[in-house]
Amino acid sequence: MSNTYDIAVIGGDGVGPEVVREGLRVLNAAAERFGFSIRLTDYPYGTEHWLATEEIFPEAATREIVDQDAILLGAIGDPRAPVGLIERGVIGHLRWDLDLYVNLRPIKLYHERFCPLKDKTPADIDMVIVRENTEDAYVQKPVFEDQGGADEVASQQMRYTRAGTERIIRYAFEVAMTRERKELLLIDKANAVRAQDLYTRVFAEVAEEYPEIKTDHAYIDAACMWMIKNPEWFDVAVTTNLFGDIITDVGAMIQGGMGLAASANVHPGKLGLFEPIHGSFPKAAGKSTANPLATISAVAMMLEYLGEREAAQAVDGAIAGLLESGAVTSLKAGANSTDALGDMVLAQLGN
Ligand code: IPM
Ligand code: MG
Repeated sequence: MSNTYDIAVIGGDGVGPEVVREGLRVLNAAAERFGFSIRLTDYPYGTEHWLATEEIFPEAATREIVDQDAILLGAIGDPRAPVGLIERGVIGHLRWDLDLYVNLRPIKLYHERFCPLKDKTPADIDMVIVRENTEDAYVQKPVFEDQGGADEVASQQMRYTRAGTERIIRYAFEVAMTRERKELLLIDKANAVRAQDLYTRVFAEVAEEYPEIKTDHAYIDAACMWMIKNPEWFDVAVTTNLFGDIITDVGAMIQGGMGLAASANVHPGKLGLFEPIHGSFPKAAGKSTANPLATISAVAMMLEYLGEREAAQAVDGAIAGLLESGAVTSLKAGANSTDALGDMVLAQLGN
């Protein structure tokens, strides 16, 4: 019997719906080729929907979505809404309230022509950043005392629990176990943010259970520098939510830009949320200039998580084949139209 997967689709804001459209074309082609079925349910959440209805993400939709197998999300963010309102209300809500504590961000260079670094090849850039996804300043309330006054104080805690720290570190060790190099780097700023001593201690504790893994440590500032200078030093790295957000944008650049960087928000045993890491670029919406490869790569991650391994490898292989072929010389927005890139991936996939 073939499997059927229920996928919740949230195109979102700006270029989100366009890139998701290409992701879904590839998903459907993969389903046909590998003999599984997809049932899609569209959800309209994003800034447009909020402007029209004042609704951000209704409870009923959340209850419906948790029973599905995965969520594919385009992008959220639009200057017509207050800063962060819809991002936190949609992406934040899904990550935090569904407790998707792992944000997996692979960084892989497919061909040196896409790398802005001198003399780096695909052999040098192939890593996975495991970003904690449910704690840190992200989920704390901002507090403004004496707002607008001369003595104003603004704060938002960097808060970590032992349970939250341990589960992400453990997950990262498991990711490292699947890799040939078996290396795990802890990235923090425990010298300045002493609360992150919790990461230092828990990392050392869990490491005892994984004698096969070679561990190392770097402060976030140095890690950003080394990612540019010596990306070949990185295999798997684990870090906090905020630092993971920042360093994965650096990672996106060295693999060829935001056009290619994908991520998975997961919690073993639960449904996952798959998305490109780029933003919504509202100014480019509807122009067919956005690069859908990041979303297509997120589809490959989704297939892997659903257990459709062969399909996942085929989609990833199609992206790799396309980028190695020379048919695409730039990953920048507008270098190829959104649908032309979708067509090229489909052609590689052999449909
Ligand atoms: C990301 C994004 C989000 C984040 C924003 C949209 C809240 O930058 O997924 O990296 O900071 O996590
Ligand atoms: Mg980010």
